[in-house]
Amino acid sequence: MEKIIIAIDGFSSTGKSTVAKQVAKALNYIYVDTGAMYRAVTYFALENDFIGENVFNSEELINQLDDINITFKFNTDLGFAEVYLNGKNIEANIRTLEVSQYVSPIATLSEVRRKLVEQQQLMGKDKGIVMDGRDIGTVVFPNAALKLFMTASAETRAKRRYKELLERGHNASYAEVLENVTTRDHIDSTREDSPLAKAKDAIEIDNSNLSLDEQFEKILQLAKITLEGLE
Ligand code: DC
Repeated sequence: MEKIIIAIDGFSSTGKSTVAKQVAKALNYIYVDTGAMYRAVTYFALENDFIGENVFNSEELINQLDDINITFKFNTDLGFAEVYLNGKNIEANIRTLEVSQYVSPIATLSEVRRKLVEQQQLMGKDKGIVMDGRDIGTVVFPNAALKLFMTASAETRAKRRYKELLERGHNASYAEVLENVTTRDHIDSTREDSPLAKAKDAIEIDNSNLSLDEQFEKILQLAKITLEGLE
């Protein structure tokens, strides 16, 4: 059976990765969380003090990009692939509010984007992949057979992210999380290189009022229709 590329873009905390994982599992496809790759570079930059409060040494970071090796390894217990930086599992390290606060400036750097996009395109060369991010339908896979653009109100998204952080034992206030969500929306959609945008041929899904099951069913249905159309 022919395989397709499913590109899922949208603002932060729209639940893209949850549904992308579910759909990939149902279709037996690979799932790639590209946000995790930008977060891994951010973690590297934080560890090396290239970014921090009033610090942004982008030149040094760019000089060391060749030393950054990002890989994914499937964890059968968790049911998804965890991200590794130079062989070290950093899945838990990249989900902190600190990384969320610095990731958008890092993602504005064209050199960083070029490196990650190249790796993403390689991962999708055999299709059979669900990839989520900000520029997947516009830049990484402009020819993807199915493109989705997920939206939800900033408040709905901040509530979800806040709950997630608390569940992971992180300390954060709702106001801080809402501020982070809206600041990231702004930086991600106004940056010069590959800003977050809905591809012309993407299907927009506002999931503010959809349950996880409803959202999954809807997207799986769209994937099945797309696959049938190819036969
Ligand atoms: O999906 P996420 O919230 O984990 O993504 C973190 C940040 O990475 C997001 O604020 C912008 C950036 N990003 C990007 O610029 N392009 C992508 N394809 C994925 C993420």
